[in-house]
Amino acid sequence: MTRKKLIAGNWKMNKTATDAVALAHDIVVALGSQQEVEVVVCPPFTSLEGVGKAIEGSVVKLGAQNMHFEASGAFTGEISAPMLRALFATHVILGHSERRTLFGESDELVNKKVLAALRNQLRPIVCVGESLAEREAGSTLKVIQTQTERALEGVSKELAAGIVIAYEPVWAIGTGKVATTEQAQEVHGFIRGLLTKLMGEGVSQRVRILYGGSMKPANAPELLAQKDIDGGLIGGASLEARSFLELVKAAASVC
Ligand code: 13P
Repeated sequence: MTRKKLIAGNWKMNKTATDAVALAHDIVVALGSQQEVEVVVCPPFTSLEGVGKAIEGSVVKLGAQNMHFEASGAFTGEISAPMLRALFATHVILGHSERRTLFGESDELVNKKVLAALRNQLRPIVCVGESLAEREAGSTLKVIQTQTERALEGVSKELAAGIVIAYEPVWAIGTGKVATTEQAQEVHGFIRGLLTKLMGEGVSQRVRILYGGSMKPANAPELLAQKDIDGGLIGGASLEARSFLELVKAAASVC
């Protein structure tokens, strides 16, 4: 089965609202009407509205980088799924390793967020990944299994197919150290097998599994050609229109 490739830009805590709109505009112009690859940009909350307007009518979709699992209430500094929907966001990154390690997000919290996103028709991009110590200890697949199983607890088979999983080895994020294609494909294949066990073959063949961690135009073609790598979640290289577009082209070339 052919899954549409997905290239998502995680802008992290970068760009003022003005700079974000300018980048979104450049991406929209350069992409034109290409349909081969699904493209999502995830700016900071402060830029969601402006970027949403800049991409209106284009092929680019809007994602957030995080959200709270409650719809509203006394949660100072938080943003809810209905608030994201009201700005026409369609995707939300959940459980990014920076949220897990710097902000103490647990598997249980990530799961609550996944369920809340699905309740609100937002497509979660659920991040999983091992640390360097975990890889060196030989526990990569165990860590990935636990994070994936816990994130998907209580998710119905019908909704599971719409989830996107991003495999981001923590040691490859922002370090310039990319996983080898063999290392990445091994974990992606493992996640696909796990999804088959949990949700059935029909669902697992539809879920897109993205690679994230120092993906750049130079290493993307080889990674994206792997059978279980369905796209990329891009940090640094998504902050400039030119490199982001090269990644979209790389994904299009292996479609
Ligand atoms: P880099 O592409 O900067 O390594 O970041 C990857 C990432 O964390 C995307 O979510």
